[in-house]
Amino acid sequence: MTPAARIEAAITILDRILGGDPAEQALLRWSRASRFAGSGDRAAVRDLVFDSLRRLRSRAALGGAMTGRGLMLGMCRDEGRDPQTVFTGEGHAPWPLSADELARGGAPEAAAALDLPDWILPAWSEALGEAVEPVAMAMRKRAPVWLRANQLRATPDQAVAVLASEDIAAAPYPDLPTALCVSAGARRLAASSAYRDGLVEMQDLSPQLACSLLPDRGSLLDYCAGGGGKALALAARGLSPVTAHDADVSRMSDLPARAARAGVRVQITPPDKLSGRFDLVVADVPCSGSGTWRRTPDAKWRLTATQLAALVETQARILDEAAARVAAGGGLAYMTCSLLRVENQAQTAAFLHRAPEFELVTERLFTPLDASDGFYLCLMQRH
Ligand SMILES: C[S@@+](CC[C@H](N)C(=O)[O-])C[C@H]1O[C@@H](n2cnc3c(N)ncnc32)[C@H](O)[C@@H]1O
Repeated sequence: MTPAARIEAAITILDRILGGDPAEQALLRWSRASRFAGSGDRAAVRDLVFDSLRRLRSRAALGGAMTGRGLMLGMCRDEGRDPQTVFTGEGHAPWPLSADELARGGAPEAAAALDLPDWILPAWSEALGEAVEPVAMAMRKRAPVWLRANQLRATPDQAVAVLASEDIAAAPYPDLPTALCVSAGARRLAASSAYRDGLVEMQDLSPQLACSLLPDRGSLLDYCAGGGGKALALAARGLSPVTAHDADVSRMSDLPARAARAGVRVQITPPDKLSGRFDLVVADVPCSGSGTWRRTPDAKWRLTATQLAALVETQARILDEAAARVAAGGGLAYMTCSLLRVENQAQTAAFLHRAPEFELVTERLFTPLDASDGFYLCLMQRH
């Protein structure tokens, strides 16, 4: 496919997403209908679509329309490319721009310039203070790919060497050498032996940094285990035995295979079978995901104030349930991949107020300015 044909494909897919299709579904539908597209074409079209979703408001303003064509026109103007060299109508390129299209568009303002929904801006400002703009700008860029070297299988250096032998370049993060930043070959990871043999797991930097601040001995309950990323990271640190729990048991279906690959034992426990208390309980609660919007940019535009309020209520309920599982002297680690105060500091402050048997041990908000994704950790201890 020519570069212009890829842009035409992105226009079609973006129109479907703007019409309500989830981004992944729209991409898959195009892929299935476009057998002629090679893997390089698919990756390039995906990048065009996701870059546009990250910068949806500013690109639509620049391009003068919230449509696939408007977004691609906005991209050309944003990147200083002459749009008429792309919108030629030749081959599979987009149709030439009309006089009306060429006349429309202007610089984005206020929340549109930050590529944020209007309603979130006050909460974003409250959470980030002077970092409002740089964090919003960081969310407009592609996220780096991070791996966690599994110390139970290999040292970080050994993992890096095996990855290199498979044409995947990765380097340890200086402050946490088990965290590896991938600089080339990320698309080969899933099929690599380093991944298949459990030497590395996919995990962003900020949850790895958060897990490194938790105790490394004693029993663990991962109360909202989902795919088990935190349970596996903490098992590799030395916590044992490890119990995984989730209100939706099906969310843990990949966990046995992941645990076997990583060489750890994880006891999967359905909600009606959970009993006893634990030295460390992790509550990695459902959240807005506002810290990870550069990975899932369509979520940034789908979230509503009503959904956020419902999430905050759910988080408070889960915190209370998880707290009831903490042994005397044990830890309670509350985590979100959100930047918003209402889901983070305000949530844990309210919990500490209603549960005086707990005290704050440490609290950290990671943003893309100091780590990778936005992530919040609050470690508390029961007296
Ligand atoms: C952010 S995800 C967890 C991600 C996971 N810890 C990981 O590292 O891959 C939140 C999980 O909380 C679960 N959940 C929602 N409500 C819950 C509840 N009341 N009790 C326990 N888990 C719940 C969801 O099913 C979801 O899997």
